[in-house]
Amino acid sequence: MFKVPPVPAQRLPALLRAMPKAELHIHIEGSLEPEMIFALAQRNGVQLPYASVEALRSAYAFTDLQSFLDIYYAGASVLLHEQDFYDLGRAYLARAAMDNVAHAELFFDPQTHTARGVAMETVVGGLHRACVEARAELGISSALILCFLRHLSEEDAFATLAEAEPHLARIDGFGLDSSEKGNPPSKFERVFARCRALGKPVVAHAGEEGPPEYIGQALDLLGSARIDHGVRALEDAGLVARLVREGVPLTVCPLSNIRLCVFKTMADHTLGQLLAQGVKVTLNSDDPAYFGGYMNDNIRAVQAAFHFDAATWYRLARNSFEASFASDAEKSGWIARLDACVAAG
Ligand code: HPA
Ligand code: ZN
Repeated sequence: MFKVPPVPAQRLPALLRAMPKAELHIHIEGSLEPEMIFALAQRNGVQLPYASVEALRSAYAFTDLQSFLDIYYAGASVLLHEQDFYDLGRAYLARAAMDNVAHAELFFDPQTHTARGVAMETVVGGLHRACVEARAELGISSALILCFLRHLSEEDAFATLAEAEPHLARIDGFGLDSSEKGNPPSKFERVFARCRALGKPVVAHAGEEGPPEYIGQALDLLGSARIDHGVRALEDAGLVARLVREGVPLTVCPLSNIRLCVFKTMADHTLGQLLAQGVKVTLNSDDPAYFGGYMNDNIRAVQAAFHFDAATWYRLARNSFEASFASDAEKSGWIARLDACVAAG
């Protein structure tokens, strides 16, 4: 394993910005900035219940996950055409590339669009075109993960999966998001069995607001390859031991957890304890347009609270590549770039 050289404290911020990293937990609809919401509303003739960008932004004061989701789904209602999904994906990938994100796995929520009469092809087509063009023009690699909304029924999820099947060549995995409390992973056991039978990796949000048992269910009943959030794992020592033993990655979203009141302040966040116990933690932005920052903003906020050394930051970046669904050859290439970047200090 690469030996991380000592990095002077004053050099660390530049290194953290420059080092290549992967983002594995980003809801593409959560990268819809207020300015783009207004631009798309105008382009598509959609009426918004806010007078201005500032009025909309000032509504972003969340008390829990549900208070955020209500606004997040309302914001997504301006997305109607293939070009809208393309513009959304392209804007995020350009922004991520600026933070030296080498690879991003994008969650998308088709049910919030198909319920409004938008076709699956429109959603997948626009996002996929953005991914292809961003790779060619910006050198950023990306993948698409279709998420089922857990507040909706199993039947609805199965219908969505059936709509997705003609597009499987452009879908790289499946996930589970939306309102966690009262919607356990067990509700989607059969849907995820079908996803896995289609040969796709699966992930699930668990242990963000929901109890540690939901993390166990995501692993045991859904076959989740990673746990999205998972920060409540610390409440169960046996579960933490299992995550370490099995090398289960957690896609942790620090600014999200503060904005949704999972933790009061960054200093209260459990990611340091999870890392110290050997859990494969990765850092991510979740819904950057709503939670105050993209990848490097999250890194900066964590560094301000925890003052990790270069070796810990190397571990976090390396974890992000190792936990991705990219090929072994791609992972090795990114890790070699990471090693070179850290070696140069
Ligand atoms: N949790 C659950 N569902 C979501 C989130 C989240 O943080 N962001 C967008 N959908
Ligand atoms: Zn999320």
